[in-house]
Amino acid sequence: MNYGHFDDKNKEYVIETPKTPYPWINYLGSDKFFGLISNTAGGYSFYKDARFRRLTRYRYNNIPLDNGGRYFYIKDEKEYYSPTWMPVKSQLDSYECRHGMGYTKIKTMKNNLKTEILYFVPLGDNVEIHKVKIKNIDEKSKKFTLFSFIEFCLWNAYDDMTNYQRTYSIGDVEVEGSTIFHKTDYRERRNHYSFYSVNYPIDGFDTDRDAFLGQYNGLNEPEVVTKGESNNSIVSGWNPIASHGIKLELAPMEEKTLVFVLGYVENDKEEKWDSDNRMNKVKAHHLINKFYDEASVKEAYEDLKNHWNNLLCKFTVESHDDNLNRMVNIWNPYQCMVTFNMSRSASYFETGIGRGMGFRDSNQDILGFVHQIPEKARERILDIASTQLEDGGAYHQYQPLTKKGNHEIGSGFNDDPLWLILSTVAYIKETGDFSILKEDIPYNCDINNTGTLLEHLEKSLQFTLNNLGPHGLPLIGRADWNDCLNLNCFSENPDESFQTCDNKKGRTAESVFIGGMFVYIGKELAQLYERLGLDKKNQEVLSEVDKMVQCIEVHGYDEGWFLRAYDYYGMKVGSIENNEGKIFIEPQGFCVMAGIGIDNGKALKALDAVDQYLNTKYGLVLLWPAYGKYHLHLGEISSYPEGYKENGGIFCHNNPWIMIAETRLGRGDKAYEYYSKIAPAYLEDISEIRKLEPYVYAQMIAGKEAIRHGEAKNSWLTGTAAWNYEAITKWILGIKPDFDGLIIDPCIPKEWNNIKIKRVFRKATYHITIKNPEHICKGVKKVFVDGREQHSNYVAAFEDNLTHEIEVVMG
Ligand code: BGC
Ligand code: NOJ
Repeated sequence: MNYGHFDDKNKEYVIETPKTPYPWINYLGSDKFFGLISNTAGGYSFYKDARFRRLTRYRYNNIPLDNGGRYFYIKDEKEYYSPTWMPVKSQLDSYECRHGMGYTKIKTMKNNLKTEILYFVPLGDNVEIHKVKIKNIDEKSKKFTLFSFIEFCLWNAYDDMTNYQRTYSIGDVEVEGSTIFHKTDYRERRNHYSFYSVNYPIDGFDTDRDAFLGQYNGLNEPEVVTKGESNNSIVSGWNPIASHGIKLELAPMEEKTLVFVLGYVENDKEEKWDSDNRMNKVKAHHLINKFYDEASVKEAYEDLKNHWNNLLCKFTVESHDDNLNRMVNIWNPYQCMVTFNMSRSASYFETGIGRGMGFRDSNQDILGFVHQIPEKARERILDIASTQLEDGGAYHQYQPLTKKGNHEIGSGFNDDPLWLILSTVAYIKETGDFSILKEDIPYNCDINNTGTLLEHLEKSLQFTLNNLGPHGLPLIGRADWNDCLNLNCFSENPDESFQTCDNKKGRTAESVFIGGMFVYIGKELAQLYERLGLDKKNQEVLSEVDKMVQCIEVHGYDEGWFLRAYDYYGMKVGSIENNEGKIFIEPQGFCVMAGIGIDNGKALKALDAVDQYLNTKYGLVLLWPAYGKYHLHLGEISSYPEGYKENGGIFCHNNPWIMIAETRLGRGDKAYEYYSKIAPAYLEDISEIRKLEPYVYAQMIAGKEAIRHGEAKNSWLTGTAAWNYEAITKWILGIKPDFDGLIIDPCIPKEWNNIKIKRVFRKATYHITIKNPEHICKGVKKVFVDGREQHSNYVAAFEDNLTHEIEVVMG
């Protein structure tokens, strides 16, 4: 069942009912000021850090779930309602929500009053605009009062939800004309404040939540709204809000536009106070003036649209398959950018107070956005690498504000360091910027102990080699990519984390998956050394890679597929011999991606086993059969009910590894089958089952052993976005950046033909046409560059600001 439709021309998803199966959200902001916004205007805003600079309040796990946001109320002579449906939930005569690139527009109508609210964060300014357009399409004139509403968060989102003995005494505001300032704590250590303003004279205001709602009322029935009159309340402690009351009268067909601005200001310490010793509001006044008239708002909105068009034009595809086009051209890269901005911090599943930036997560995210914002990818790589430890190991997370490693979680996730090589090589292949390798950066953020990025990469690889187990396979540590496979953390205490509980010091538990990663990523590093002319290093790495391949073939392969691991006791995990968890997806993906077993049939068998045991109509499950009880020596993985999360859920992050592996075998039909099973656009008409946004990937879809097979959870912030982008653009459509050009090697379904791709690569634009006259899955017979045939499918990086026509004939 559908709840909306794609509007590809405008790069929007159009939601046609407020009652989606779950709040369907979007993100506002692209630099420092961010907002999450649902299809009924729920959500919150923050500046840079969702924990320490939360501007508006949001209650996770609320009842109803999405209750709190940027709300408006309209009170006419007879009744009151919300033009975004929530929170009043009165029946509207029409409703439409358009989530676009960095903006959301909600258009509704009731009693012949049309309302259109546009929410966005302009580029370069720390404000969120709520532009409200109201039109009377009645034959009679209409009189009504418009009330705005936001609830301030007292900055630190964690304290705000836990420390009421303090927070209920500190709330502080100031009202000046049509602007309500939130200045809690400004008198002491904070040099920042926020404000909510409107470019229209107001008839009243409220800043005290109780005075606005009434002590016993919810957001659906504020006393002020029901009586149609603001209280002009000034809060003192308790719960500060901002509400404007504006009386309006519209003649038939008359339209009015009001611009509300939610802003954030930081003052320099020296400029904290004005000459009268009051809070210095100069910056706020500047922002309010800047967006006072509609024309400047319109201009800012156009700038935002252009910004996104520029980002998204770097890779576009034109094919017979609308879902493919909209995923590749719009929604997948958009989601990748959101993961750049948010990492795993703030979504409707992540509270913004829990996690820092993951070492492995952030490296993988780079694969998805490096072509859009290469300079920022460069900065991110250097930030991540600066937290690396001197022995090559890595803090599992670092904090975005301090950019320092997180001591509480520490290190010991033994896959972490290798991901740094992958992101760096991807960056260089995209940009040709080898200079990044010479950057001198700290270990463990200690500026007195530094090394070049290339040395960091070398240490990453060496870390695996220094930590090999009895079979010569990499030790797993606390966990590898699969955070929940904890083979050295035996946790019996429900009050501790599965990953950070006392680590068993054994050096037996090994990961075949890290082995596969080592081979895949080791080859990338070897190639880099070769390109740099470092032949000896190239040879050394390749010889280690060969050894690892041998180990995996001998000790890491069962009868028909790659093993997952050896546990603390040296027993096999992910083997035919196990009763549960016989086969895991991750090593089948990475080992075949790395080329292991391709020449001797092992890879083929492994991928057939994936198809046989892991494939379902909604995607590939992570393992099979799911664990039915908790196994102390396996850890968190067996704590989840069967079919959920790492215990046999469809983990959309690792499905693309199988897609890529399939392309290594030349099976384009299979690769695309797996792609289209989890790409959200293809699932639009089962939204009642999938529940989450049909325009973004979710981390997990419940697996075949789950009670709710097909139901998705944890949308938006997941490595799924980057890896699916990687699979479809580089391996299925087959446009792979390399150190000196683009390799074009599609692996597609047989029936595809005439696929057109536009790729902007190092200043040149490549118009690529893929022709498939013989209807095969893989193989390039002829390549024409600007009409001239060339002898390989390696197309040079022209770097000439020109457009080049590339024709690729498969055969
Ligand atoms: C797991 C969580 C774990 C998290 C941390 C998830 O996929 O299911 O339980 O804490 O990853 O990275
Ligand atoms: C989510 C984590 O963010 C990611 O780092 C991990 O690889 C997956 N879960 C799988 O456990």
